Amino acid sequence: MLGQPPELFHRTALGRIYLGDSLDVMSARKSASVALVMTSPPFALTRKKDYGNEQEDDYLQWFRSFAEQFRRILKDDGSLVIDLGGAWKPGMPVRSLYHFKLLIMLCEEYGFHLAQEFYWWNPSKLPTPAEWVNVRRIRVKDGVNTVWWLSKTPWPRASNRRVLQPYSDSMKTLLRNGYKPMLRPSGHDISDKFSIDNGAAIPPNLIAIPNTESNSGYLRYCKRIGIKAHPARFPAALPEYFVRMLTDAGDLVMDPFAGSCVTGEVAERLGREWVCVDTVEPYLRGAKGRFGETPEEVPKSKSSRKDAGAYYRIPHPGLLWNRRSDKEEPLPKDGGRHRSAP
Ligand SMILES: C[S@@+](CC[C@H](N)C(=O)[O-])C[C@H]1O[C@@H](n2cnc3c(N)ncnc32)[C@H](O)[C@@H]1O
Repeated sequence: MLGQPPELFHRTALGRIYLGDSLDVMSARKSASVALVMTSPPFALTRKKDYGNEQEDDYLQWFRSFAEQFRRILKDDGSLVIDLGGAWKPGMPVRSLYHFKLLIMLCEEYGFHLAQEFYWWNPSKLPTPAEWVNVRRIRVKDGVNTVWWLSKTPWPRASNRRVLQPYSDSMKTLLRNGYKPMLRPSGHDISDKFSIDNGAAIPPNLIAIPNTESNSGYLRYCKRIGIKAHPARFPAALPEYFVRMLTDAGDLVMDPFAGSCVTGEVAERLGREWVCVDTVEPYLRGAKGRFGETPEEVPKSKSSRKDAGAYYRIPHPGLLWNRRSDKEEPLPKDGGRHRSAP
């Protein structure tokens, strides 16, 4: 669909899906008309995948015209949220810097501000590349995506009250038993304000969401009409977090690399207007299933459950240290350059 004028592919009460190049869709938009661009662009993988990844070296160059349009169409108090997975350099156990370079380019050349960096931890991510992680054991699992929250001014509209979390058990105990005001060794003054029960906790910039969709209405719809589901979907809770925190009902949300239109589905449900664009027609055919006449009830996200399973625990790194059985194997002298004998 690149090179052809965009076509209105589907519309709902609040949103529109366009088939075509999002650069064309954005160029036709009024300036300062979008409250939030929420997107997950093709990652600069070093291997071409079937959804059009740019080669790493060309990535920044390719992104430039999108950056210009994002800046133009965003309202002054709007936000640009970009979810990006990291990448390994081909054949080497070292990481590409492309997502950091993109962030610096957007801030230093296009005038965006980094409102905050987030890390989306996907506890269900597989340990890859197997060669470095499972076979030679010289790297650990890459479990997070970076999510850059950028803004045109240092003061984008935002409220963390929209994304509060239940208190942890230890915080609940603290609230019950009270907290003794004191000066921490760091010099921070922990006043008695910390023992006020505000009903919920302010979350950190680490968002834990497993990407494990296996029996959703969207997947069943794709199966029913005989198409492949989009291979790189983000979980709905990711765009939902930012749509809630950064927009009000009635605001316009845009996803220029929409894939299966998860962002559109979330925006529709939350009463925001929305525009989704993708160049690949079968992805959008599948996306239509998200906006049926009688949409299936949205399954309650695990995080709204009251049980302990709604928390993802990260073990303290020292849990297995200093045990008698913990004999240190010598480090590989060659840094893992060669596979060791099994
Ligand atoms: C990582 S995927 C997005 C997946 C989406 N977040 C979801 O959950 O389904 C990136 C998408 O960008 C689309 N894309 C790449 N270049 C594009 C362009 N110039 N205009 C519109 N879409 C584009 C690809 O077809 C792909 O579906």
